[in-house]
Amino acid sequence: MADLKVLVTGAAGQIAYSLLYSIANGDVFGKDQSVTLVMLDIAPMAGVLEGVVMELQDCALPSLKKVISTTTVEEAFADIDYAILVGAMPRRQGMERKDLLKANAKIFKEQGQALDKFAKKTVKVLVVGNPANTNCLIALTAAPSIPKDNFTCLTRLDQNRAQSQIAARLGVSNDCVSNVIIWGNHSSTQYPDVAHASVKCGDTESSVVSCVKDDNWLNGEFITTVQKRGGAVIAARKLSSAMSAAKAICDHVRDWHFGTKGDKWTSMGIYSNGSNYGIKEGIIYSVPVRIAPGGAFTAVTGLSISDFARSKMDETAEELFGEKLMAMEFMSS
Ligand code: NAD
Ligand code: LMR
Repeated sequence: MADLKVLVTGAAGQIAYSLLYSIANGDVFGKDQSVTLVMLDIAPMAGVLEGVVMELQDCALPSLKKVISTTTVEEAFADIDYAILVGAMPRRQGMERKDLLKANAKIFKEQGQALDKFAKKTVKVLVVGNPANTNCLIALTAAPSIPKDNFTCLTRLDQNRAQSQIAARLGVSNDCVSNVIIWGNHSSTQYPDVAHASVKCGDTESSVVSCVKDDNWLNGEFITTVQKRGGAVIAARKLSSAMSAAKAICDHVRDWHFGTKGDKWTSMGIYSNGSNYGIKEGIIYSVPVRIAPGGAFTAVTGLSISDFARSKMDETAEELFGEKLMAMEFMSS
């Protein structure tokens, strides 16, 4: 089996510290798949990167073939199969969303151009750094030679959060709950939707809605808990989520590599081509997808959408078009 070359940006940061081990240990691409890990961070972090490289070496992992640590995009993006774009300017106190977008538009434009120039044309790109959907759109726009479907952003953490809230409410294990959907933006306007989700206990599978039997909770506290979970973790830890984010990245990439199982689906931020659920073309919007082994995905179509869901789905799309307007302004400046 050919070696896989996997880039992680922001490799000296806190998400990467959990993520790199899982990739190197074969938890994402399988124990039999050898991996070259490429780690990119900014020049001031070169010393920290060195320390992380030493630790990876000291893990003595059989599937880790080679580690490349670098502070230049030319080296980082050369011939890669996967790009996991975690590195971004973090939101500082007093910083407006617009300031964050401006700082990150520059980073993701540069990295999109590097993908276009140096990566394999089959590269699969996952954007994690916030604002993840719009950063993904910026990278995709700056890399016209790579198919749009090779770009996704992370909403799996939101899906995992929603799944775990439902499992806790019903007193079942997390793996009993499936087909929760995250629609839209990885932000507090996202719509976590359980209208089509199911819960399996023993041999019986039932709808989450019929098991929870509390529409007020499902349409109220459940949604806001998931929407605000990232902020709640920051408030408690004084740092954004890292362990759970790394785990969600592994889930996302593993499913993208190996495919989803049976009739199950998963949510990913993908390029909206205007043909799904009335979401207009031109943004990265999270929808449920089924993935074939090797990575080709199709949006799940034909799900019934209530008036309540419609308004939530439109609200989060509107926010994304607003972010896009700002991002395009910064990209051209
Ligand atoms: P962190 O600050 O610990 O690490 C970020 C790293 O990125 C730092 O080492 C920094 O030097 C590096 N970096 C900055 N600019 C870079 C560039 N141009 N090239 C390469 N590296 C660069 O942050 P973290 O906790 O690891 O989080 C990283 C990002 O992920 C943040 O934007 C955070 O908001 C986001 N996040 C997203 C989700 C999600 O579900 N989508 C979840 C959690 C966190
Ligand atoms: C999360 O959902 O935990 C993060 O995206 C929050 C953040 O702003 O970093």
